[in-house]
Amino acid sequence: MKSEQKIRIGVYPGSFDPLTKGHLDIIVRASKLFDKLIVGVLKNDSKQAIFSMEERVSLIKKCTKELENVEVEMFQGLLVDFVKQKGASTIVRGLRAVSDYEYELQMAMLNKHMEEEIDTIFFMTDIHNSFLSSSIVKDVAQNGGNIKGLVPDEIVDDVYRKLKM
Ligand code: PNS
Repeated sequence: MKSEQKIRIGVYPGSFDPLTKGHLDIIVRASKLFDKLIVGVLKNDSKQAIFSMEERVSLIKKCTKELENVEVEMFQGLLVDFVKQKGASTIVRGLRAVSDYEYELQMAMLNKHMEEEIDTIFFMTDIHNSFLSSSIVKDVAQNGGNIKGLVPDEIVDDVYRKLKM
C-alpha cells in the first residue's frame, strides 16, 4: 500500500521590525527545503515595535511575492502552538555569530522541551549579512544614513518613509 505523502511545512518566526536582507536570504534558502514555508510574524505587545503588525506583514509579502510556497502570517502566544496549529514540525532560525548561539540554543531547547515533535534547524547567515539586524537598520535610517543593501530594494522607500526624520 502506498503511504500518504506528507507535506513538509516549515515556520520561520521573528519580529521582523523590519525585514532585513539577512531575513530574506534565510526565507529564500529555507523555502527550497520545504513544500511550504510560513513566515510567522510575532505580535508581541511587550516588545515595542516601530512598524505595526500590518506593516511588517505587508513588507514581507512585498518581498516574497515571487516565492510561491511562502506564506506570511502573524501569530500570538507560544511559537510551538502556532507551529502545531499550522501542521508544521520544523522551526527555522538564522545564526549570524557565536553571540546568537546561546539565546538560540536556549529557545530551541525550550521549544523541544514543550513539544518533543518540533525541531529547530539553523541556517548560517550569509557572510555579507552577518552584521545585519533590524535594530541596525532602524538606527541607520533614523539618523539619515543609507539603508540600501541592508533591507530588500523593494522596501527601502517604505522603511525611509517610516523612519527618516
Ligand atoms: O526576531 P526575534 O525577535 O529574535 O524572534 C523571537 C521569536 C519571535 C522567535 C521568539 O520571541 C518567540 O518565539 N516568541 C513567541 C513566544 C514563545 O514561544 N516563547 C517561548 C520561546 S522563546
